[in-house]
Amino acid sequence: MKLVDMLKIEHPIIQAPMAGVTTPEFVAASSDFGVLGSIGAGYLSAEETQKFIQEVKKRTERTFAVNLFVPEDEQLDQELFREAYEALQPIGEKLGMPFWKVLLSTSQFEQQIDVIIQEKVQVCSFTFGLPKSNDVKRLKEAEIKLIGTATSVEEAVVVEQAGLDAVVVQGSEAGGHRGSFIGMPLVPLNELLQDVASAVSIPIIAAGGISDAARMNQMLEYGAEAVQIGTALLATQESGAHPLYKRAVLHAEADYTVLTDTFSGKLARGIQNQFIKMMENKPIAPYPVQNDLTKKIRSDAAKQGKPEFMSMWAGEHVHKTEEGTVEEILQKFID
Ligand SMILES: Cc1cc2nc3c(=O)[nH]c(=O)nc-3n(C[C@H](O)[C@H](O)[C@H](O)COP(=O)(O)O)c2cc1C
Repeated sequence: MKLVDMLKIEHPIIQAPMAGVTTPEFVAASSDFGVLGSIGAGYLSAEETQKFIQEVKKRTERTFAVNLFVPEDEQLDQELFREAYEALQPIGEKLGMPFWKVLLSTSQFEQQIDVIIQEKVQVCSFTFGLPKSNDVKRLKEAEIKLIGTATSVEEAVVVEQAGLDAVVVQGSEAGGHRGSFIGMPLVPLNELLQDVASAVSIPIIAAGGISDAARMNQMLEYGAEAVQIGTALLATQESGAHPLYKRAVLHAEADYTVLTDTFSGKLARGIQNQFIKMMENKPIAPYPVQNDLTKKIRSDAAKQGKPEFMSMWAGEHVHKTEEGTVEEILQKFID
């Protein structure tokens, strides 16, 4: 079956799930346009995930996806935790908080899957790894279509072998976190897509730096059945990105993004700023602990209007991002 038919969409486009950025209005506007809207539920509790799904359902009758972060087993190293906290203190001081409380997050992945089944969501996508075979089984029994994320041929093959229905191949140009789960490969999309296309037979979705119709069509020629678009939609009216984040995106130039693990402990692409520069070569706790350590810094920076200490994830083609509604931006990919 063709991917657009499997996902019940008109156009071969997936609105990238973007945890912290997607709002019910954003997802519903994408689905209403005829692409696959996706809820970035990675940082949500099961209860928040359910509420979000219900808010989207109030706004659209169309298909949408929920995206989950596959949890990792990370042992907390107390010594590294202390060092990473201390390394962040100069930034805390700049925000008027030399000390702050750190709440360690816990994943509610299994309960989120329960919610997805209960709410009869039609598509579920994953990043940072693969769900366990039992979860794949129960989602499939509920007739939910499953999409994995891969950043190498090896990962794409594993996604296919796990029985998922489609795979997002994420090139090194992509904004946000790397979806990698076997090492940390950094392969540009052209090369990755063509290599994955000859290695798997499930439908492929190309992601990373797709900012116009010409690039999208090229990806479809190279073997993708759809594209996943994140950064191009970041500054839309419906996007939940902070106004200063949207401004930084709209003012960015071609070489403004870098790959960094300083905010979360996991490599991600975002707009270079003072936080990243100050944390260069400093001790960083592994994901998700570093993310918990920097949470208060990031939220206080947003409250105080200081983008120099916020994480502003964006892809290499950020300079091409324009203002508009979700509908106006998506229309440019179709014309
Ligand atoms: C702000 C932001 C947040 C993101 N959050 C997620 C996420 O929660 N889950 C996910 O699978 N991918 C996430 N991504 C990655 C996208 O799925 C996709 O790979 C990427 O946006 C494609 O590259 P582009 O941004 O150049 O379009 C995020 C990307 C951005 C820019």
